[in-house]
Amino acid sequence: MRTKVAIIGGGPAGLMLGHLLTREGIDNVIVERQSGAYVLGRIRAGVLEQGTVDLLEQSGAGSRMRAEGLPHEGFELSFDGDRLRIDLAKLTGRSVMVYGQTEVTRDLMALREQAGAPTLYEAKDVALEGLEGSPVVHFTRNGERQSLACEYVAGCDGFHGVCRKSIPAEHIRLFERVYPFGWLGLLVDRPPAAPELIYAHHARGFALCSMRSATRSRYYIQCSMDEKVADWSDDRFYDELGRRLNPAVADALKRGPSIEKSIAPLRSFVAEPLRFGHLFLAGDSAHIVPPTGAKGLNLALHDVRVLFEALAEHYRTGSATALERYSPRVLDRIWKTERFSWSMTTLLHNFPEHDPFTRRMQRAEFDALAGSPTAQRMMAESYTGQFG
Ligand code: FAD
Ligand code: DHB
Repeated sequence: MRTKVAIIGGGPAGLMLGHLLTREGIDNVIVERQSGAYVLGRIRAGVLEQGTVDLLEQSGAGSRMRAEGLPHEGFELSFDGDRLRIDLAKLTGRSVMVYGQTEVTRDLMALREQAGAPTLYEAKDVALEGLEGSPVVHFTRNGERQSLACEYVAGCDGFHGVCRKSIPAEHIRLFERVYPFGWLGLLVDRPPAAPELIYAHHARGFALCSMRSATRSRYYIQCSMDEKVADWSDDRFYDELGRRLNPAVADALKRGPSIEKSIAPLRSFVAEPLRFGHLFLAGDSAHIVPPTGAKGLNLALHDVRVLFEALAEHYRTGSATALERYSPRVLDRIWKTERFSWSMTTLLHNFPEHDPFTRRMQRAEFDALAGSPTAQRMMAESYTGQFG
C-alpha cells in the first residue's frame, strides 16, 4: 500500500486533516487503532470556538452543526455561589457553539465515507520506520502484518499514541504538569440546569454545568484521582454537584439516570518541536490542556488546519517553506492556550496544597474580574479563541 499522507489516529484531528486533504485531492489514508463505534463512544469536549465553527463550515462539514448546535453568547463563573456572567458577545463581538466532539466526529466520518477515502480501523501495533527519508507505517490488521509507504506521516494519535514516542529523545523536549485531581463527568437526557455554561469554584471543589443540546446535559465535578466511578451513584453525584452551585441553580437541576459517567485526569503537556523529519504531530499527540476552558478539541483542529495549509502548499508548489514553519506557527497558539487553560484551572479548583492565603488570592482574582470589564474582556478573548 502507498499514499501521500498517512494519518495515524482517526479522532477529530485525524479526521479533519483527512477531510481537508481529500477535498484538495491529496491522497491520504487514516490508520486507527480502535473501531469506528469505539471512537464515537468516547464522550469528550462540548464547546467550539468561532474559528473551529468557521473551519467546519468553510470545509463543508458544518451543516448539521449549523442546524443543531447551540450558539452561546456568554457563560457564567460562580464563586462560592456568587455569580458573574462573562458576556462574550458584548466583550468580543464573538460567540461559541455548543456542539459535542462526538457529533463533529460523526459528521467527519460520514463525509469521509461519502468521499470513499480509506480509514483502516482496528489497526493494531502501529510502528513507524524511515521518518527521516521515506516513511513506512507498519500495523497488524485482520491478523496480518501490513505496510503503508508514504511521503509524510501526520501523528494525530492522541496523548497515548505511538507517533510522539517514535521521535528519538534527543530531538524532542517535553513539558508537563499533572494536576492532583480529576473530573468526574456525567451525561444525562434532561434539560440543562441553566441556559449557559457555569464554571463553579467551591470550597468542596470545582463543578461545571454544561450541555449537549436543549434536552441533554453534561455535568462535571472535581474529584480525587483515587475515586472509583462505581462508588458514585447518580444521586450521590447530583447531591455533590448541587452543593457546589448557587442554590437557585441547584434547585433547577433536573436529575435523571446517567447515560455515561467517567473520570478524566487533568494534565498540561507540550512537546516541541512538532516535527521530526517527515513526521508532524498534531492535536493531543503534541499537547494536552486541562479541560477547564474547553480548549483541547479547538487547539487540535487549529493544528490540523495549519498542517493542511502547509501540505497543500507543498504539493501545489514543491516548496517546503510552509512545512518548516508549521511547528513554530502552531506552538505560539499552543503556549497561549496552555496559559489560559492553566490559569482557569488554577482559579477554579481546590488544590490540596493551597493554604488560606492562596485561597484568598483565588477569591481576590474573582473579585478583580467582577470589577473590571477589561479583565473580563481578556478572559472572553481567550475563551472565544482570540489569541493575538
Ligand atoms: P484523540 O481524540 O485522542 O484521537 C486520537 C485517535 O488516535 C484515537 O481515535 C485513538 O484511538 C487513536 N490512536 C491512539 N493510539 C494509536 C495508535 N498507536 N495507532 C493508531 N491509532 C491510535 N476537551 C475539551 O475541550 N473538553 C472536555 O470536556 C474534554 N474532555 C476530555 C476527556 C478525556 C477522557 C480526554 C482524553 C480528553 C478530553 N478533552 C476534552 C480533550 C479533547 O477531547 C481532545 O483535545 C481531542 O480529542 C483531541 O483530538 P485528537 O484527534 O488530537 O486526539
Ligand atoms: C465541556 C467540557 C469542558 O471542559 C468545558 O470547559 C466546557 C464544556 C463539555 O464537555 O461540555
